[in-house]
Amino acid sequence: MSVELEFIDVVKRFGDQTVLDHVNVTFAPGQTTVIAGGSGQGKSVAIKLLLGLMAPDAGQILIDGVDIVKINKKELNKVRAQFGVLFQGVALLDSMTVFDNVALPLRERLRLPEEEVKVRVEEGLAQFDLQGEGDKFPAQLSGGMKKRVGLARAMMLDPAVVLFDEPTTGLDPQITMDIYKLFFDTQKQHGFTSIIVSHDIPKVFNLADRVVVLSRGKMATFEQPEDIQHSTDPHIMQFVQETMGQVYSSSHEFSS
Ligand SMILES: Nc1ncnc2c1ncn2[C@@H]1O[C@H](COP(=O)(O)OP(=O)(O)OP(=O)(O)O)[C@@H](O)[C@H]1O
Ligand SMILES: [Mg+2]
Repeated sequence: MSVELEFIDVVKRFGDQTVLDHVNVTFAPGQTTVIAGGSGQGKSVAIKLLLGLMAPDAGQILIDGVDIVKINKKELNKVRAQFGVLFQGVALLDSMTVFDNVALPLRERLRLPEEEVKVRVEEGLAQFDLQGEGDKFPAQLSGGMKKRVGLARAMMLDPAVVLFDEPTTGLDPQITMDIYKLFFDTQKQHGFTSIIVSHDIPKVFNLADRVVVLSRGKMATFEQPEDIQHSTDPHIMQFVQETMGQVYSSSHEFSS
């Protein structure tokens, strides 16, 4: 049930600023792609385009071969129902408990009976190491716990596609890696297609199936994270210099 996502010649402008400049990229079914790139390069815009929350100025956005630019709202909602999304800066509802936050899609979308909601939510909480935390409110959680609640909620409808926009910004590196590992384990179990937007966390590259670097309106795909360092594209080289110091050192560690 995993889904292929594709940009064909996508252009996105805001006024005279071109954020995506004839971008072509394929996100393969059942694989995890990390989208990396400096701040303001258009990573969140790319995610919003995939969700149909914004329209491109030109090009096609294909979800399993269907161009979502051309379909009507009802058809778009059907496509979106397959997506689990965690936006930049997790939006948990502060007035609701952890349990109710995670239960939200089951109650609102699926209208499941409460006994079944309880079973599924308890399962989801356990999967993300949140057993016994259901009665707490978001304000009583650590940053890492909030992310895990957001993940549990995004997984509730068993999505075919999972989109995470910088899921771990602002957390300490160990907690960040723990959350990524949890996420990758879940991905392997369920086999959904996933895209993770990551600002500058080179370590996550080694967990991903491929890395897409977004720089000055262009996306470049790399099957191996190490290949990014060998790119001769001046913009990619600049990105490597600015943000990927750790990849250099980690590959030195591996090779020595
Ligand atoms: N709705 C909008 N109207 C006008 N400009 C926008 C809009 N959304 C995004 N932009 C511009 O598009 C560019 C890309 O923004 P985007 O949010 O995608 O960056 P990003 O790569 O996600 O950055 P960060 O890593 O900081 O989250 C920025 O220059 C931003 O100001
Ligand atoms: Mg962003």
